[in-house]
Formats: sequence, structure tokens, C-alpha cells
Amino acid sequence: MRVDDPAAASAQGMASRSELCLIAVERTRMPMVVTDPRQADNPIILANKAFLELTGYAPAEVLGRNCRFLQGVETCREAVSEIRRAVAHALEAEVELLNYRKDGSTFLNQLHLSPICDDQGELLYFFASQKDVTELRRVEKLEEAERRLLMEVDHRTLNALSVVTGIVRLTRSGDARGYAEAVQRRVNALVRAHTLLAHHGWRAAPLDDLIRVEVELYGGLPVTLHGPPVEIAAPHVQPLALVLHELISNAVLHGALSSSIGRVSVDWDAAGEKVTLHWDEAGGPPPPRERPPGFGSTIMKGTLRRQLSGGFRRTWDPKGLHAELQFPAVGREGAAPTI
Ligand SMILES: Cc1cc2nc3c(=O)[nH]c(=O)nc-3n(C[C@H](O)[C@H](O)[C@H](O)COP(=O)(O)O)c2cc1C
Repeated sequence: MRVDDPAAASAQGMASRSELCLIAVERTRMPMVVTDPRQADNPIILANKAFLELTGYAPAEVLGRNCRFLQGVETCREAVSEIRRAVAHALEAEVELLNYRKDGSTFLNQLHLSPICDDQGELLYFFASQKDVTELRRVEKLEEAERRLLMEVDHRTLNALSVVTGIVRLTRSGDARGYAEAVQRRVNALVRAHTLLAHHGWRAAPLDDLIRVEVELYGGLPVTLHGPPVEIAAPHVQPLALVLHELISNAVLHGALSSSIGRVSVDWDAAGEKVTLHWDEAGGPPPPRERPPGFGSTIMKGTLRRQLSGGFRRTWDPKGLHAELQFPAVGREGAAPTI
């Protein structure tokens, strides 16, 4: 026997097909409503238990009302317009929008709407299911944030390894011990920059802090810093730390800071996303005729030009070394650098 034959069904004490449908709608855990578009303002004529549980309303508070009572100030107006269009043209639609419960709390509603027509295609009702996707979207966002974080960690690790590769390749020294020490010293500069970045949430580091970290390594040096606040993008912090480290250690070993009356002034200015830094030494010994071994010129030039897409110019005058560095501030993050 077919359950959509009501007479036969009731004679047998069985539910008709439409009664079964009503029971199924009532019992399903998916919130559902049916509205009647032939009545003024398309009111709800049926709302199941799950819908009442989701929204916190009693049956009498929802029956006879248009579903828009679930909307509030933060409901996206575009999403509402999309539903309005679907209703006006009796079309099926799926829209996600913020709705409000009776107690004022919100949930993200994945609304699925479909028209119910008779055999002649005449619109009779609208049927809709409301799925609370708040938690799902929250977890998706977290997963996306975690995925991005892992990609970022991978990217940063490659950056750091690439800088280390450059150090190993470009360090020059007359003997194995000197070579090992120079590599170690430069890698330590990267470690300090790494720690600084960690303190700043891995986003960017202030230029003055980056210089200070290198200067303070030698303790109480007569180095003055002057310039506007500038943030260095995370991928550029380690390469720049390496260059600053070379400048300061050269000044201490061979330049102005090797003399008791020597001093260094570091000034910078920023135009757009480009920073120009002037490194001026004074009061040191006369410049050497030949660059001492392990001076780090190749590293400084290579790092600035190839890793920071910047520039490096250096002149020696009787007062001491003058170096001009150009490099990007925040906003010009590039791919993993190579030198
Ligand atoms: C069957 C049906 C169910 C609906 N369910 C919801 C709902 O759960 N949440 C909501 O914000 N809007 C819902 N709507 C949309 C509103 O009732 C209304 O169509 C929408 O706000 C656009 O019309 P308006 O611009 O006149 O408000 C539903 C509409 C229909 C036809």
C-alpha cells in the first residue's frame, strides 16, 4: 500500500504521506520553516522544534511573522537583498547571514531556501532550512590561520637558512679558525635579530632596536642614533642585522671605535617605503691603505643588493668611514632572499 493514499492509510491505522512528512520535519534536527507567499508579507506557517530551539522563540512568537525578525544591525544587507531577489523570483537560494536569537545572541545562519510549486508550476510555499554554521566557520578560520602560520614559519626558516648559506659562502679568512670564528660571529648576529623579531610578534622590528642590539653587544660604545621610527619587515630583519653587525664590528676592530676618541653617528630618514641610512665614523685612526682581511665588504654589498634590493656606498675620508645604505621599510616583503 502507498502511504500517499490517505484513505487507505487511515483505514489501516497508518500515517498518510503528508502526515509522515510533517512528522519528519518536526523530528529532524535540522531547523526548518515553511512560509506562505500567498499571504501578506510571506509569514511562517510552520516552524519545527529544531528552529525554535535554535532561535529561542516559542511557536506563537514565530507563526504568522516574516522571518526577517531574525535579522539585526550586523546582518549583511547584501545577503538580505539576495534572499529578497530569490523570493521575488521564486528561486532556490543559499545564503549565509548573521541572525539573532530571542536573547540577542547571534549565530551564522546558512539559509537554504526553495520554492514549492504545484503541478501547474504555481508557487504555493517556501521551504527553508537554517543551519547554524558559527562553530564551523570559527574552526575554519582557526585552521586557515594555523595553515598560514605554518607557511610563514617555513618561509622564515628558508630565509634564515638562505642568509646562513650566504654567510658560509661569502665569509673570507686566511685560516680555518678565523673562518669558523667569523661565521660564528655572523650567525650570532642573526640569532640576536631572530630574538628581536620574536619580541615583536614576528611581524616587523624597529630599526633603532635592531641597531641598538648590535651596538650593545660591545657595551657602552659612543654611537648616536637619530632618525624617525621605521619598521623593518620581518624577512629583511636578519639580512639587515648582518650588515649592521659588519659595520659595527669593523668600526670596533679597525675603524673609529678602535680609538678612545672615536665615535659613530647613525642617521636615517625614510621616504615612502625606502630608508636611507648614513653611517659616519669620526676620530678614528687613518683609513688603512688596504682593506683588512675579513672586512665583510662582499657580505655587506651582497646582502644589501641581493637580499634587500637596496644599495650600499662607502667612502673613506680623513675623518673616517662614511657609508650610505638603502633598504626597504615595512611593506616591501619579497620572496625568500638569496645571496
Ligand atoms: C522560507 C523562508 C525562510 C527564511 N528564513 C530566514 C532566516 O532564517 N533568517 C533570515 O534572516 N531571513 C530569512 N528569510 C528571509 C526573510 O523572510 C525576507 O525574505 C528577507 O529579509 C528579504 O525581504 P525583506 O527585504 O522584505 O526583509 C526567509 C525567507 C523565506 C521565504
